Amino acid sequence: VRTRSFVLLAATLAWPAACAPADLPPPELPVSARPEPQRPQFHFTPATGWMNDPNGLVWSRGEWHLFFQHNPYAPFWADIHWGHAVGTDLVHWTELPPALAPDPVLGMPFSGSAIVATGAAAASCGPLEPGADCLAALFTSHGGADASEKQSLATSADRGRTWTPYPGNPVMPSTGLANWRDPKVLRHGGRWVMALAAGPAIEFHASDDLVAWTKTGEFAPPEASAKTVWECPDLFPLAVAGGGPERLVLVASGGDTLPGTGVRYWTGGSDGSGFVPDGPARPVDGGEDFYAAQTWSDAPDGRRVLIAWMDAWRYAMASPEGEWRGAMTFPRELGLRDDGNGPRLVQAPVAAIEDLRAGPVARWQDRVVEPGTPLAAGSGRTMDARLVIEAGTWSRAGVSVRVGGGEETAIGFDAVTGTVFVDRSRSGDASFDGGFARRHDAPCAPAGHAWDLRVLVDHSSIEAFACGGAAVVTSRAYPDPSSEGVFVWAEGAPARVLSLEIDALATAWPVD
Ligand code: FRU
Repeated sequence: VRTRSFVLLAATLAWPAACAPADLPPPELPVSARPEPQRPQFHFTPATGWMNDPNGLVWSRGEWHLFFQHNPYAPFWADIHWGHAVGTDLVHWTELPPALAPDPVLGMPFSGSAIVATGAAAASCGPLEPGADCLAALFTSHGGADASEKQSLATSADRGRTWTPYPGNPVMPSTGLANWRDPKVLRHGGRWVMALAAGPAIEFHASDDLVAWTKTGEFAPPEASAKTVWECPDLFPLAVAGGGPERLVLVASGGDTLPGTGVRYWTGGSDGSGFVPDGPARPVDGGEDFYAAQTWSDAPDGRRVLIAWMDAWRYAMASPEGEWRGAMTFPRELGLRDDGNGPRLVQAPVAAIEDLRAGPVARWQDRVVEPGTPLAAGSGRTMDARLVIEAGTWSRAGVSVRVGGGEETAIGFDAVTGTVFVDRSRSGDASFDGGFARRHDAPCAPAGHAWDLRVLVDHSSIEAFACGGAAVVTSRAYPDPSSEGVFVWAEGAPARVLSLEIDALATAWPVD
């Protein structure tokens, strides 16, 4: 790495950006109404205050609702509310006033889910505003008078703008379990089914009206130890590309109580009361900044779209952001693919990213990169880069972004370990956490003779999608704003880049 960075620096000096062979004229980007240097421009962040988990993701009548764990008063975790944003395309969001606030008796509204309530479950909404569905949220009430975790219901008859707590809350009183939280509700088998984290297990409950709940079963993942505390489970059906029986996908976050990064998934089936996995747990994302992932309920056209908190508890309250802290990942379209080893989750940025394209930064066909001689491929801080690299005898090959002044964030393939990685060991400010400056990997097998990579870069975030979306690595990074270079490199032997397309992306914030 040290050799390469020396060469990168030399290359930067030798090829001023305007003369670099692969550079196109830099696209003019509109100036964001939120220009703070570390604030992501096309990922959701709250205008001010703290944000952690996505909550209550639901689509209704053309609107995507994004609720989130939010402290509206300060950029650290405290006074938890449900923040709220809405949008019609999963990219441009309008933040609305918080939807749920702490309750003096029940406690703070912790994570949970929302659905379009129908049938008996819609009764608690009362009369609906014209053009509105009955939206119902199930969430954990944490703390309060009895310092416990219990589950509550709130409903909205006005497109999620105001919420009424169910007068009989909690609908699921405390059982005495200290960690019993984050209900995710789906319609399955003609009833409402809830996945609920219960320490080292995931419980399942069922209801007809969202008020009376009966426990039907539980799944105790063999990967968990007695110390594991699962959080934020999600459960949803998903079709396998090319046919085969639909599978249930169970996702849960296990934080620091699991080795590596903490969000896992299982595919499986239902035995009518619980969940029977097809095989072992697998990571959803190899990066460290990926937690509390949740999918949208009631999304149109059978879509399954996931978003996650793009931070890590270990350092989230110390990271160098601003009057706000916390970002969401870019929304991801989910699918299942079976290459002969059982169904695997595949992820891709939602297609609405196309609306942000602001002009080409680099376009290559068939170019060979020699070890020790990285090739410049434009510059920028918000971009969508797609590369296909031919399999060969190189040991590592990829692209470095945010290069400048001794900083670089390298994203690439390691043919020796069979992984795609994001290496933020020299990406910029890492002073706030002793374990931040390192590399994160996800297992990745090239399709045929080529490795495919797509990297979304957005000020302080990097998301790498590789191997047909079967491998994803999400990392925050805090480079100096002036570090904007992009270089393609190889180690061990020359690498042939079959194609490279880099586009600048425009801000999703209003423009000044
Ligand atoms: C996950 C989590 C949830 C909890 C919420 C509190 O990040 O710990 O289990 O509901 O955050 O903000």
